Amino acid sequence: MYKISLITGDGIGPELSESVIKVLETVNDKLNLRLEIEKLEAGDKALAKTGKALPEPTLHAVKRSDACLKAPVGESAADVIVVLRRMLNLYANIRPAKSYPNMPALKDNIDLVIARENTEDLYTGMEFEIGSTAVALRTISEQASKRIAKYAFLIAIQRDLKRKVTCVHKSNVMRKTDGLFSRVCSEVAREFPKIEFEQMYVDACAMNLIRQPESFDVIVTTNLFGDILSDEAAQVVGGLGMAPAANIGESFALFEPVHGAAFDIAGKQAANPSSFILSAKMMFEWLGMKNKDQKCFEVAKKLESAVYGVVKDGIKTKDIGGDKTTAEFTQYVISNIS
Ligand code: NAI
Repeated sequence: MYKISLITGDGIGPELSESVIKVLETVNDKLNLRLEIEKLEAGDKALAKTGKALPEPTLHAVKRSDACLKAPVGESAADVIVVLRRMLNLYANIRPAKSYPNMPALKDNIDLVIARENTEDLYTGMEFEIGSTAVALRTISEQASKRIAKYAFLIAIQRDLKRKVTCVHKSNVMRKTDGLFSRVCSEVAREFPKIEFEQMYVDACAMNLIRQPESFDVIVTTNLFGDILSDEAAQVVGGLGMAPAANIGESFALFEPVHGAAFDIAGKQAANPSSFILSAKMMFEWLGMKNKDQKCFEVAKKLESAVYGVVKDGIKTKDIGGDKTTAEFTQYVISNIS
């Protein structure tokens, strides 16, 4: 039995949550997984209601669960997801950018993964003012750099595709912080002689993601650069509506779309639920690995091939060039699972 905590979020979050619950209920019935899903509140609405963006009962329920699915939250994102990542030590933010059929993509046949360090850099919120100057502290530690570098190489081995890790930074300018990140990544690279290793400045990487995205396999980078590059990579393969993510720690993990609460389309049934369904797929892969549970891998495969099949048939939401509503698209995914 798996207990899944589900933060329903803000903006398009509730619509995506409804979609993912229906999909999970379907796989639950088909494969008798005995999933228990607990819906939880966090984000702007929770802040207005309880005075806290991440209420205590939500935090406790997340900690009690086997894994967490988190829909996007709004302006209070830093007080929800950044806090959860740091509090639960979810150090690896894994963001695949993969080609699916019939996408409004810049290029096809892309399959890359961004492994973003998730606990430090400029995202620790250490900001202050000195007179009329605002200062932000950027922390990059050897320990955090080493564990994300190792994680990136382990992904490259498992993927068994190009077997390449690209370390992305700006060490020619941020000599201490990115200098350390670059040095630690090359040290870790020596432990994996069968994996090709290259280094790239972040500006060159941003350009190459447009120019030759097919040349990448696994990109390992710091928190802020990873955040920006993963939105870019998502757009290269078709858009944020298709972009899932995992936040992985030693013994717990949280899965969420790359995108935010998309207030511009909230409540209009215009959201593409693939990002959240594919995040659930990543959750089952992680549960499968953690618990050595073959059934979870089966579910992960079913979820991905259901989404793949639907878009291959040209059934799409508006963001990727179709006319289906969130609920209609979800129903097609469910039929494909069946
Ligand atoms: P956004 O990622 O929410 O939206 C950017 C664009 O992508 C919008 O045009 C939106 O309509 C579109 N889009 C995003 N997801 C989509 C989907 N599933 N289907 C179809 N179209 C989709 O970025 P934005 O507008 O900068 O941020 C909105 C809010 O989200 C902000 O309050 C921000 O703080 C929050 N946010 C929360 C995050 C989280 O919970 N992890 C991450 C990023 C932003």
